[in-house]
Amino acid sequence: MSLENPQRYTVTAALIYANGPIHIGHLAGCYLPADIYVRYLRATGKDVAFISGTDEHGVPITIRAKKEGLTPQQVVDKYYGQIKQAFADFGISFDIYSRTSSPIHHQTSQAFFTTLYDKGDFDEEVTEQYYDEVANQFLADRYIVGTCPVCGNPGAYGDQCERCGTALSPLELIDPHSTLSGSKPVLRQTRNWNLPLDRMQPAIENFVNGHPEWKTNVLGQCQSWLKEGLRPRAMTRDLDWGVSVPLPDAEGKVLYVWFDAPIGYISMTKEWAAQQGRDWELYWRDDHSKLVHFIGKDNIVFHCIIFPAMLMAEGSFILPDNVPANEFMNLEGDKISTSRNWAVWLHEYLDELPGKQDVLRYVLAANAPETKDSEFTWKDFQTRNNAELVGIFGNFVNRAVVLTQKFCDNRVPVRGDLTDYDRSVLDELAQFPDRIGQSIEQYRFREALGHLIDLARLGNKYLAETEPWKVIKTDPARVHTILNLALQIAANLAIVSEPFLPFTARKLCDQLRIQDRLDWQNAGRADLLVAGHELGQSELLFAKIEDEEINKQIQKLQNAKRMNELETKTVPPLRDEITYDDFAKMDIRIGTITEAERVPKSDKLLKLKVDDGMGGRQILSGIAKHFSPEEIIGKQVTFLANLAPRKMMGFESQGMILMAEDRDGKLALIAPGDVVWNGGTVS
Ligand code: MF3
Ligand code: ZN
Repeated sequence: MSLENPQRYTVTAALIYANGPIHIGHLAGCYLPADIYVRYLRATGKDVAFISGTDEHGVPITIRAKKEGLTPQQVVDKYYGQIKQAFADFGISFDIYSRTSSPIHHQTSQAFFTTLYDKGDFDEEVTEQYYDEVANQFLADRYIVGTCPVCGNPGAYGDQCERCGTALSPLELIDPHSTLSGSKPVLRQTRNWNLPLDRMQPAIENFVNGHPEWKTNVLGQCQSWLKEGLRPRAMTRDLDWGVSVPLPDAEGKVLYVWFDAPIGYISMTKEWAAQQGRDWELYWRDDHSKLVHFIGKDNIVFHCIIFPAMLMAEGSFILPDNVPANEFMNLEGDKISTSRNWAVWLHEYLDELPGKQDVLRYVLAANAPETKDSEFTWKDFQTRNNAELVGIFGNFVNRAVVLTQKFCDNRVPVRGDLTDYDRSVLDELAQFPDRIGQSIEQYRFREALGHLIDLARLGNKYLAETEPWKVIKTDPARVHTILNLALQIAANLAIVSEPFLPFTARKLCDQLRIQDRLDWQNAGRADLLVAGHELGQSELLFAKIEDEEINKQIQKLQNAKRMNELETKTVPPLRDEITYDDFAKMDIRIGTITEAERVPKSDKLLKLKVDDGMGGRQILSGIAKHFSPEEIIGKQVTFLANLAPRKMMGFESQGMILMAEDRDGKLALIAPGDVVWNGGTVS
């Protein structure tokens, strides 16, 4: 049931776990498209509630707490504030950004559970669950990892494989182990309440099949789930962090985080409505409201199948009209990863590229992973800024306002007779708002952004072809007409760019002094600015980004990669302890290599002659892969002088050259540069 032109929208953006800061992948995948959509709806006069917040329950929070040595409460308090700030800094215009730890959320999700319980919608089931005997706790969801039975990913979680997107139950994992203690878990009995998704399958199929307009990546995942056959899913967990199960005999149990979190959309709407003196039920219980969930692809099954199943069972809520999930964005050829610090963090971006929110919004929207995974690179960031934002958008606006200052006393000039070319440009102008709007309504934000930049291109082309800077010498009245039209295009840009580039749109409105004319309805018109209207101060909308700034960012990522490689490299275990007396038995001396040659038929051994101050000795050393004979002759070395002689490849070795090995396995001579005699003892 897709509604034609509804007037009221409930738009949600995924409740991200409050267990870390956010990066460009989050923005590109979910929050930016949601914000563009919502800003557009508002500009078209719709009644919108844009709802989001943090998901503060579940194992991802408790695992993070353990890692940081904090309580779960401290973790969510720390990250809630950071995340909220980052979104605000980038202009993500939520109507409310709340949290699932709020009292109203606990009440709302418990009431939801109770409703289903009272209706007999749950199956109570005693099952065997994995239990960690070292940590003394049941291992729900992400407390357990193992190999994905579908794709073979060895790091699949107990609730989901992040590589192939399959939702899993811990019992399906191959070779499971506890993330708490690393131990192999045992099975223990426990009682939980299941949502019988198996019995609900026909209704869910009906619902999904009723939406052939959904994105193909979304429908694809839904169909593969349905084809597999839905299985009952427990809506409660044996954990001590979460919303407690509102039943008398459910001590130590909480609601499954994927049960309570999406209900958060409802509780946050209630919270917002109460603040605003509005009726929350209109946004969740009125068939004329359209519910849209913006999420990333790892959340598809929860929003397209499980949450709708919950809503159907409950019975009094509307169902999602669309779930425009995006795929993932990669960074410089590699998957974005929090643990490997392979990311562009929003708070760091703003510190390092202050004031450039819209540049990031632009580049992320232009590369949004709408149909498949996409890629962010700093070079592309620079090119798009310099060529498109500076070169097309900024350049056009700047020329229009500067020429108006110069030739028309900074006032909108009077328009005279139009040429055919003028008229064709105005015709084109008139089509842009619908073109952009339709792309947005179909969740094609990349395409919409392409149209937007085409409008700026149209303006640029108009000025390039009419050449007002030349015509001014012969026909000032014609220049007035040209600039009048150019300024109308600029004013239109202010309106239609606002969903994508809100900071820029604001600046542009200030320059044109049109603060109160931003209705999308007015877009396309050629009379947004009346003759005589005085413009404000001109100011460049975008600045060129130099190689230096970009190289700094690339360098930063390279450093992260190096740090990460160092951290993950395993150091070989230490050998058995020795005593001082063991050590003192060794006679380590310094000598100089006087001759070196390869040992025939050996790719490892070099035959060395070492001047030891005692007439010289022959030492065979397995360093041929690291040093050539030529480069080693004349070098000082330390050697073990009292090692029993032994034969290697037919030659006697009288001692051993000492080398140091770094963590990459590279050998270095221990070369005592300041020692000037041979035969000395190392101490
Ligand atoms: N916390 C989840 C994540 O970060 C998303 C939850 S969305 C909601 O992947 F539906 F639960 F709200
Ligand atoms: Zn998998």
